[in-house]
Amino acid sequence: MSNEMNRRDFLGWSFGAVAAVGAGASLVAMKQSWDPLPSVLSAGFTKVDLTTAEPGNPSLVTWRGKPIFVLRKTKEMEESDRDIVANGERYIVVIGLCTHLGCIPAWKKDVWKCACHGGEFDSNGTQTFGPPPRPLDIPPFSISGTTLTLGEEGPEYQKILADSATA
Ligand code: FES
Repeated sequence: MSNEMNRRDFLGWSFGAVAAVGAGASLVAMKQSWDPLPSVLSAGFTKVDLTTAEPGNPSLVTWRGKPIFVLRKTKEMEESDRDIVANGERYIVVIGLCTHLGCIPAWKKDVWKCACHGGEFDSNGTQTFGPPPRPLDIPPFSISGTTLTLGEEGPEYQKILADSATA
C-alpha cells in the first residue's frame, strides 16, 4: 500500500513537472510573439551627427515619418531656452510641421515661413506672426557628444520641456 502511494505520488509529481515546464515554455513563446521585433524598435530612433549641420542653414531629417529641422545657429542668432548645446555650438531641433494646421514651413532669410496661411517662426522655432498658436514642437531627443538621438527622452529634452511649462 505504501509502495502504491509512493508510485502515485511520483507519477503525480512527474506529470505536474512536465505540465509546469510546458506552461512556462508557452508563456515565453507568447511573450516573444507580443514583443515588437528588434527592427521595429530600432525604427523608432534616428541618429543625427550634429557636426554635419551648416551654420544658419537648417538640414532636414526624417523621424517616424515626420520632417525634423536641425538648425545650427550662427553667432548672430538669439540664444533660447530651447537651444541644444553640443561641443560649444547651439542648435535648434524642431518638428517641421506648422502648429496651425500642419503644413511644412520653408526656411527663408532666418525665418521659417508657412505658405498655407502666412505663419512665421523665428530661428528658435517660436511663432512670430500669423495663426500658429505655439512654437514648433521639439521632438523627444537625447544627446551624447555631438550625436543626437531622436525618439529617446534625455535629460536635456526633459529640461526644455520643464522650462517651457514654467514659461
Ligand atoms: Fe501654417 Fe496655417 S498651416 S499658418
